[in-house]
Amino acid sequence: MSAPAAFTISRWTSTDRLDDILAMVHAAFAGFGPPSGVINETVADIAARQRNGIVLVAQSGSAFVGSVFCAPKGDGLDLTRLAAAPAWRKSGVARALLAAAEDEGRRIGAKRLTLRVRITLPGNLAYFKRAGFVVTGEGQDPGRTPYITMARALDPAA
Ligand SMILES: CC(C)(COP(=O)(O)OP(=O)(O)OC[C@H]1O[C@@H](n2cnc3c(N)ncnc32)[C@H](O)[C@@H]1OP(=O)(O)O)[C@@H](O)C(=O)NCCC(=O)NCCS
Repeated sequence: MSAPAAFTISRWTSTDRLDDILAMVHAAFAGFGPPSGVINETVADIAARQRNGIVLVAQSGSAFVGSVFCAPKGDGLDLTRLAAAPAWRKSGVARALLAAAEDEGRRIGAKRLTLRVRITLPGNLAYFKRAGFVVTGEGQDPGRTPYITMARALDPAA
């Protein structure tokens, strides 16, 4: 039996290597049709996410194998662009990122984690339902793919 692949989760606050994080995120979201808006994002967008929220990364050694962007929104912590590098799928990377986001949410006193899922990706909807998220609504930005909003309640910090 092989040992589980090792990775660590941390908050990325450095302005170094944002290009490497961006390349991993772009690889994770490649092939979406219509394309994800993240494909047009730049290092400056990740830097803005660091200033306005929290960038969590998963690393194997120094390589980035996953990430999620978290930002306070109302009384929740909103998660965007949850990504696992293609070679690391189904290794628990996203699950570990969600657990870390939950810790961050509790730390800032957020009542829930929130996110959006493309209506055209039922696999993702199923994934987040299994991860304890419930559907809270739906919406559509002009010219964009409709989405479903989901949330997972956070208990207060113990
Ligand atoms: C969705 C995504 C982040 C999941 O990452 P991951 O690290 O592979 O997920 P995990 O390893 O934590 O998965 C945990 C479980 O969900 C399953 N799973 C993962 N993605 C799934 C999917 N799309 N559909 C159904 N099941 C899925 C895994 O098999 C695993 O099941 P298990 O616990 O029974 O073994 C990853 O597939 C990804 O980067 N996709 C492209 C970007 C994207 O769509 N992001 C979400 C935007 S809303």
